[in-house]
Amino acid sequence: LKRTKIKALLGSEPGDQAVCAKGWVRTKRGNKNVNFINLNDGSTIHNLQVVADPAVFGEDVMKKVTTGASLSVIGKLAASQGGGQTVELIAESIEILGESDVEKYPLQPKRHSLEFLREIAHLRPRTNTFSAIYRIRHAMIFAVHNFFNERGFLNVHTPLVTASDGEGAGETFRVSTLDPANPPKNEDGEVDFKQDFFGREVNLTVTGQLEGELAAMAMGDVYTFGPTFRAENSNTTRHLAEFWMIEPEMAFYDLDDNMDLAEDLLKYLVGYALEHCADDLEFLAKRAADEEKSKPANQRQELGLIERLRFVIDNDFERLTYTEAIEILKNSKPNKKKKFQFLIEEWGADLQSEHERFLVEKHFKKPVILTDYPKAIKAFYMRQNDDDKTVRAMDILFPGIGEVVGGSQREERLELLVERMSEVGISEEEMWWYLDTRRFGSAPHSGFGLGFERILLFITGMTNIRDVIPFPRTPGSAEF
Ligand code: 4AD
Ligand code: MG
Repeated sequence: LKRTKIKALLGSEPGDQAVCAKGWVRTKRGNKNVNFINLNDGSTIHNLQVVADPAVFGEDVMKKVTTGASLSVIGKLAASQGGGQTVELIAESIEILGESDVEKYPLQPKRHSLEFLREIAHLRPRTNTFSAIYRIRHAMIFAVHNFFNERGFLNVHTPLVTASDGEGAGETFRVSTLDPANPPKNEDGEVDFKQDFFGREVNLTVTGQLEGELAAMAMGDVYTFGPTFRAENSNTTRHLAEFWMIEPEMAFYDLDDNMDLAEDLLKYLVGYALEHCADDLEFLAKRAADEEKSKPANQRQELGLIERLRFVIDNDFERLTYTEAIEILKNSKPNKKKKFQFLIEEWGADLQSEHERFLVEKHFKKPVILTDYPKAIKAFYMRQNDDDKTVRAMDILFPGIGEVVGGSQREERLELLVERMSEVGISEEEMWWYLDTRRFGSAPHSGFGLGFERILLFITGMTNIRDVIPFPRTPGSAEF
């Protein structure tokens, strides 16, 4: 008898045909006449209730049916008496596939703290919260490919090991096979990377953009969706050292086209989650609502999770320039007493998260696209505006999250690009391949990067980025 997944069983009618379910025990309760076993196999947030007569299976078997044990159960589906499910499985045979010692198993049938669950990241997918998140994560991966495929974009795999620092921020992880204790040296006494595996210094990629641009300048509309790595020492609830990024790159797009695409993509992903992950979202919405109750009233979110998702779909994002945003901030008070503080003089300062939160959560109360940032705080490849001060950048800011998207129209004019590179100390010789796209058939083009875990935070209502990726890598932490 072949195993049927619990999601399918729960959608079935009661019947006389024997069925087989396999999964892990969440809870067992009952008395000496009847036991109710909640079984979960990861296919759905819902458990299958298995009804077992202890007299039939004997104490030896039943005492091994403990939280965490894995079972194979054969029986018939019957209409369920209890609430919550329409069918239950009346067990005719129970096989214990793997025992789980209750004394040692770290998961109890209760709500554990997220901090505790982070320490047992190898077991946390066995909880409702994390299995829901991982199913939504899967659905969003699928939705990303769907979105671009429907629009005729080509997926390109950009390299993970590169010789460049695509953001020019110096936050790369070096990749080397040299013995760190005793590296080969050249005549000048410096480490001789010519003897390293690739015959040069290389690192893990911080962005697939530069290679994405190469593809766009031949294929038109492309996107990458891969892991990126940043050795930035930001121990926050929004930063990972290894995160996944969706990076479309489009020939002949200007910044307005770019903003339209990004807004469409974000709305599509949120809509896809509402449509395809309703059960998991309902669970997470309830979870988020419980969390809210433990906060002081003035810190609670106005809308519940599902309402926040619907709001994003139903409303246009606010679009304004960085300069306009600074004017708003200068004339606003985050609280009754104090004006906003800026790290350097107002115009020219990079926005701090308190500024972004104010714009998105207090002032506009909706997602915001900020454009035309000062060139000094943005990457070298962004197209320069005629004012000589700003670039065609765009950041999309979301309530509760901050920046989810960073992108720009690219500098397609060879001379201006080379000049900017030399200003910020990026070698023209090293980047000869990138500059070739500007030498031969250069064209206006644009793109952006969507932080996959950032949008997952928004969609799942979770508040720490470590909880929306199965194995988070952060400074000082790579346990698994
Ligand atoms: O703004 P960023 O650094 O832009 C780029 O990397 C561009 N090359 C993208 C492009 O135009 N193709 O990063 C893009 C997005 C951010 O908006 C944020 O959502 C996410 O990536 N991100 C991070 N997510 C998690 N942890 C980190 N350390 C992140 N750094 C950026
Ligand atoms: Mg950015």
